[in-house]
Amino acid sequence: MTSPATILLVFGTRPEAIKLFPVVAALKADPRFRPVVCVSAQHREMLDQVLAIAGIVPDHDLDVMKPDQTLDALTATLLTGLGRVMDEVRPDRVIVQGDTATAMAGALAAYYRKIPVDHVEAGLRSGSIYHPWPEEINRKIIGTMASLHFAPTKTSAGALTAENVDPARVHVTGNTVIDALHWVTARIAAEPALAAGLAPLEQRFAGKRIVGVTSHRRENFGGGLEAIADAIRRIAARPDVALIFPVHPNPNVRAVMNGALARLDNVALIEPLDYPHFARLLSIAEIMLTDSGGVQEEAPALGRPVLVMRETTERPEGVAAGTARLVGTDADRIVTEISTLLDDSSAYEAMARAHNPFGDGRAARRIVELLGREITSA
Ligand code: UD1
Ligand code: UDP
Repeated sequence: MTSPATILLVFGTRPEAIKLFPVVAALKADPRFRPVVCVSAQHREMLDQVLAIAGIVPDHDLDVMKPDQTLDALTATLLTGLGRVMDEVRPDRVIVQGDTATAMAGALAAYYRKIPVDHVEAGLRSGSIYHPWPEEINRKIIGTMASLHFAPTKTSAGALTAENVDPARVHVTGNTVIDALHWVTARIAAEPALAAGLAPLEQRFAGKRIVGVTSHRRENFGGGLEAIADAIRRIAARPDVALIFPVHPNPNVRAVMNGALARLDNVALIEPLDYPHFARLLSIAEIMLTDSGGVQEEAPALGRPVLVMRETTERPEGVAAGTARLVGTDADRIVTEISTLLDDSSAYEAMARAHNPFGDGRAARRIVELLGREITSA
């Protein structure tokens, strides 16, 4: 029997960990592969929350996170650190996910060693290099050197072939976030205590309509975040509404949100939730207000209208399906859009249809099958 192919999975932030744990599990279950996990720890606590629930103990941990890290210092540290791990592990292939600094540096370090790099969640494009910033360019850089491109949807596959990527290397797999969401939903059903920590907040806000909020985008730092905070303050003035807002630990986000919202009765600013508790928030919220990428994929799958605080999105599928709406970062616009959903039940019902353009929960299996074909044809 030939020895299993060594696959180095490189990730470092919360969303990458959520979207790659199903791939790690599928590779572990397949004797053709020896998965090796390297975390950059570009995030620390938020990454560790996902590793804990997914039961992943990394083989390598670069522990690079610094408070308020700059993009250039972060990228330089990642590139040299990930290169060292690749020289030690000497993988047959490297897997990266998405569009973070870790994913881009991981792909580049693999390319410098002529190791094929496979890209999970390939081909998302907004068409604007500053939205999301710097992720649009990170994703495009990875796309120029990837060996296999695992596109979540036909739209993302089409974006790659429009950029002259060989169609034979592009595969529509669905997004692994739906695999993760199915998994965590089943875990909570089997063990409700995993998501019971929100109970005190649910009691405090009993009878109110819950809006879930997340916000962290770099391109919104400064004026954008201040406008978002202003919108939340105005929505919280309604006695029938409560907002639950797990605040990203980035100091740029915390300073604005704590300053503007900490003393409002109808707003709960809380620490980042682990994945089961965030899934619980998605299930109790009437509306999600977010600038997150992953939440744009999860909320439509659960039939939660999602208002996206961005000017443009690389995930147009939710907007096309009618479950997501781009509302930008203008406070008046955000307040108007939320008020419409709260006060006009037909507008709400039109958006609140479970729709899942992002996958069927079998993306990781498809990815591993495609990798299996690749290693046998090599
Ligand atoms: C990063 C990704 C972004 C992704 C987001 C998901 C890049 C350039 N950005 O943005 O694409 O959407 O993660 O959340 O790759 N921090 C902590 N603890 C944590 C995590 C972050 O304290 O567990 C703080 C630190 O001060 C850190 C700062 O947040 O310096 C920013 O983290 P960083 O990974 O650079 O950027 P994000 O804004 O999180
Ligand atoms: N999430 C979480 N806890 C939170 C907020 C978000 O587990 O308090 C999850 C969410 O379900 C989604 C992912 O984190 O799967 C999104 O991560 P984030 O918004 O940090 O990054 P993005 O998707 O914008 O890159």
